[in-house]
Amino acid sequence: MATALITGASSGLGEEFAWQLAAAGRDVVLVARSRDRLSEMGDLLAGAANVKVEILAADLSTPEGLAAVAERVADPDRPIDLLVNNAGFGLGKTFLESSIEDEVAALDVMVKAVLVLSHAAARAMADRGRGAILNVASVAAWLGSGTYAAHKSWVTSFTEGLASQLRGTGVSATAVLPGLTHTNFHERADLSHYEDFPELVWLEAEDVVESALAAVRRKQVLVTPSVRYAAAMGVVRALPRSWVRAASRGKRP
Ligand SMILES: NC(=O)c1ccc[n+]([C@@H]2O[C@H](COP(=O)([O-])OP(=O)(O)OC[C@H]3O[C@@H](n4cnc5c(N)ncnc54)[C@H](OP(=O)(O)O)[C@@H]3O)[C@@H](O)[C@H]2O)c1
Repeated sequence: MATALITGASSGLGEEFAWQLAAAGRDVVLVARSRDRLSEMGDLLAGAANVKVEILAADLSTPEGLAAVAERVADPDRPIDLLVNNAGFGLGKTFLESSIEDEVAALDVMVKAVLVLSHAAARAMADRGRGAILNVASVAAWLGSGTYAAHKSWVTSFTEGLASQLRGTGVSATAVLPGLTHTNFHERADLSHYEDFPELVWLEAEDVVESALAAVRRKQVLVTPSVRYAAAMGVVRALPRSWVRAASRGKRP
């Protein structure tokens, strides 16, 4: 049976990816730091959908954690045919406020881990002539709002280049760029004031994941879930960058 490996599977979008993929009959490998939460989810998933669930507790900001996941992704005896690079977090601070340790950990999880796991997956999948890589970016990629936006911009650009280079191999690469989505992201980053934003700007994890997986099936390279965010980002990308920077000033992603 086909197997998907999902990073950041213990919460939010990653948890929803696990549920939708298992419901579609895929075996799943769940990666995150919270082993207990992953085990709890594993029991629920295996009970509800008739699939195999594997737990891989790992901290992607550490060399050992990342190496363990890369090794699992590349394992020829237990092929992964969909890699979902989803783990991520906001620091909730400006560059001047945050510590360099936290900044490097964010870069390691949202850039280095995406690079290393995509490399392991692309090679293994290309050898088999099939597979897909799905990277979770953000609409922040088009905004000038600090290091989080820079990481998501890297993920977006990296995925576009990867998709081009993988043409003809049977392997596809997709980046999903969600807008504000109800998950634990904002509370964990001490950005609870975002919850005061009107409901109109919020997306549901279920819809974001459905849209991302549909794009993977179509081998679409970039997808921005919801018509309103896709339209808004079309406008943002056409604006002078000085206007975008002015609008982003002082935001804490
Ligand atoms: N929510 C939004 O509005 C929004 C919008 C655009 C993009 N995104 C992106 O969507 C992705 C998922 O975020 P979410 O909204 O679902 O947030 P979430 O509910 O806070 O989930 C984040 C996941 O990342 C995992 N994670 C964090 N640090 C990790 C590390 N060092 N090693 C391994 N796993 C780690 C967490 O698991 P553990 O704590 O158990 O390790 C958790 O499973 C992120 O890449 C985020 O940037 C979110």
